Amino acid sequence: MNIWETENLTKHFTVRRGLLKQHQQVVHALNGVSLHQGVGETLGLVGESGCGKSTFGRTLMGLYPKSSGRVLVAGREITGPADTDHVLSHIQMVFQDPYASLNPRMTVRQSLLEPLTVRATTGTSLSETAKQAKVDDILEQVGLSKAQGERYPHEFSGGQRQRIGIGRALISSPQCIICDEPISALDVSIQVQIVSLLERLQAEQGISYVFISHDLNMVRYVSQRIAVMYLGGVVEEGPTQAVYETPLHPYTQALIKLNAPLAPHMTIGPVLTGEVPSPLADLRGCPFASRCPEKIAQCEEAKPPLVVRGEQKVACWRR
Ligand SMILES: Nc1ncnc2c1ncn2[C@@H]1O[C@H](COP(=O)(O)OP(=O)(O)OP(=O)(O)O)[C@@H](O)[C@H]1O
Ligand code: SF4
Ligand SMILES: [Mg+2]
Repeated sequence: MNIWETENLTKHFTVRRGLLKQHQQVVHALNGVSLHQGVGETLGLVGESGCGKSTFGRTLMGLYPKSSGRVLVAGREITGPADTDHVLSHIQMVFQDPYASLNPRMTVRQSLLEPLTVRATTGTSLSETAKQAKVDDILEQVGLSKAQGERYPHEFSGGQRQRIGIGRALISSPQCIICDEPISALDVSIQVQIVSLLERLQAEQGISYVFISHDLNMVRYVSQRIAVMYLGGVVEEGPTQAVYETPLHPYTQALIKLNAPLAPHMTIGPVLTGEVPSPLADLRGCPFASRCPEKIAQCEEAKPPLVVRGEQKVACWRR
C-alpha cells in the first residue's frame, strides 16, 4: 500500500493587493498534482523557485487546506482537521530552517517530548519514564548526547539544529518524512553528514522521504524516483536513473543541461529564454509554452495531460 497518495491535488491562495487591499487575486500554486509514495523509497521533488514544491508538502500534510482533489494517507481519505493526528502519525516534515520551527524557550528535550504529550497517536499513553527513554533514544539516533538535550536551540550550530529537527520528526515514528530543502542552508561538509544521517535512518527503519531540493545532483544521489514540477504541476515523473539519462520533457532537459545546483530563489534563466507565466494567470495551454523551444500551435490551445511513456510519465504534446 502507498503511504500517501494525492489525486488532482489543487491549492489556490486568495491574496489581496493594493493600498487598501481592495483587489482580490488568486494564486494557482498547485494545479492538479497526482503523486504517491511507496514504503521505504525516496521521492525527489525538483523545480524552480515558486513552482509549488513546498505548497505540495504542506497541503499534503494538511498544513494548508486543499482547494480540491484528494489526499489519502495509509489508505484513509483526509478530509479536514479531524484527520490531523492520523496524518502526523504517518508523515512528518523537516524544514530548511529548523530554528524557525523550534521553540527558543524550550530545551531540546522539551521540544522532543512535546509531540508525545499532545498527540494520542504518538504517545500520550506512554508512562513518563517511557517518554524520557524515547527521547534519549532519538537523541542518540540523530547523533546528539543526553547532555545536549538540556540545552536551548540557540546553543547549537545549523547542522546540529537540523539534527534536532529530524529528531522532532522521528519521535512520532512516521513512515514518511517530507524534507523541504533540509540541507540548502548548510555548509557542504555538514550537508553530507545530514544526508548520511537520513540514509542511515532509511536503511535501519525503512522510512520514506520526499526530498525537496534545488540541487539536482543531490536529488539524483538520494532519490529512487523523481517528479519535476513546473508552475504548480508535475511535467515529468519516473525512476531517477531513467529521468536523468533520457529526460523527456523539454523543461527536464533544460534543468539537466544546466546541471548545477540552483541556489534557492534562482531560476534557470541562462538556459531558457522567455518568462515564466504568472501563477495568477489562468492558463489554457501548456504552462511551459512561453519558454519551450519545441512549441507548436496545439501547445497554446490545450494543456497536455501527464501520460505514461515507458517507465516515465510526461506532460507534453510532442512526446
Ligand atoms: N501562503 C501563501 N499565500 C499566497 N501565495 C503563496 C503562499 N505560499 C506560496 N504561495 C505562492 O504559491 C506559489 C508556489 O510557492 P511555493 O513556496 O510552494 O514554491 P516552491 O517551489 O517551494 O519555491 P522555493 O523553491 O522558492 O521554495 C508561488 O507563486 C508562491 O508565491
Ligand atoms: S506541450 Fe508544447 S510547449 Fe509544452 S513542453 Fe511540449 S512542446 Fe513544449
Ligand atoms: Mg519551497
